[in-house]
Amino acid sequence: MSATVPAPRITDPAAFGRVAVLLGGPGSEREVSLQSGQGVLDALRSRGVDAHAVDGVPALAEAIVAGRFDRVFNILHGGDGENGVVQGLLDAFGVPYTGSRVLGSALTMDKIRTKQVWLSLGLPTPRYRRITAGEDVHAAARELGLPVIVKPSKEGSSVGVSRVFADADLDAAVALAARYPGELLMEQMIEGDELTVGILDAGEGPRALPSIRIVPKGAWYDYEAKYVSDDTRYLCPGQDGDDEVRLGALAVEAFVAAGCSGWGRVDVMRDRATGALHLLEVNTAPGMTSHSLVPKAAAQLGMDYAALCWCVLESTLMPEAAAR
Ligand SMILES: Nc1ncnc2c1ncn2[C@@H]1O[C@H](COP(=O)(O)OP(=O)(O)O)[C@@H](O)[C@H]1O
Ligand SMILES: [Mg+2]
Repeated sequence: MSATVPAPRITDPAAFGRVAVLLGGPGSEREVSLQSGQGVLDALRSRGVDAHAVDGVPALAEAIVAGRFDRVFNILHGGDGENGVVQGLLDAFGVPYTGSRVLGSALTMDKIRTKQVWLSLGLPTPRYRRITAGEDVHAAARELGLPVIVKPSKEGSSVGVSRVFADADLDAAVALAARYPGELLMEQMIEGDELTVGILDAGEGPRALPSIRIVPKGAWYDYEAKYVSDDTRYLCPGQDGDDEVRLGALAVEAFVAAGCSGWGRVDVMRDRATGALHLLEVNTAPGMTSHSLVPKAAAQLGMDYAALCWCVLESTLMPEAAAR
């Protein structure tokens, strides 16, 4: 994204009609989504938008069948909010919504298959093994080389993610990740900087916001560092000069390759020893809490939280929304 704030394309809040802010849901990220959703709701209302909270996909489905909403701001993290289910429902009823469509949502909900697409295009992502029932996890770890990361393929917010440095800790890490639905993966652990790149389409295609380098006080960016601790430092932009340009370009390429659109966030690790970038995942309904990253990146461009929400919502009124 150029270093300027995109001008609003819509100025009249009435143009949005009645807006559902989809939040909450039953998953492990419910609490975070409630906070994100409250922030979005307050921001849209402060700008005069007729916005209403709707908790979970079944409640939204009822409201859509009843014709109660003109469009949806989707801030339901994980589960049916981010996996293509609600996107398919809204497509079936012709109701516009923020963020990626069915394909990008469904693909990026699955970290394993997202990596397969990236690898097929030569995009860098940590080496990995899919862990299936009965798999010799010790052999897999030997193949990748310790340390490794074990994580569920379909969770978020670092839920169920473990860093494993010793073979003796592998079984516990796999048992933890296996508590969550879906498959598991084991990844080569990248030791170095944790970076994230917000992506926003303000009408000219997906563009990278300034990156953020996350410096947690503890060893890594776990749930506590994400949502509880005030000691995590966020440096924005996260890289200098050409490195920042390369990171932004890679994030946009990875986002588009995964079929994503509208807005989102791409998580990346930078290997300290080699400087190489490794793609971790795409978030299609990224956090919008007071600790969240996309709002921080937008602020670096001078775009405040309410302007960011407005810009994301605007995409539902654009002709390209129909073509996405
Ligand atoms: N391969 C990896 N190397 C190093 N750290 C990782 C790796 N995979 C995940 N992590 C750490 O775990 C966190 C969560 O992993 P991520 O893949 O982004 O899943 P999610 O955010 O959906 O839980 C990352 O922010 C990072 O701190
Ligand atoms: Mg992540």
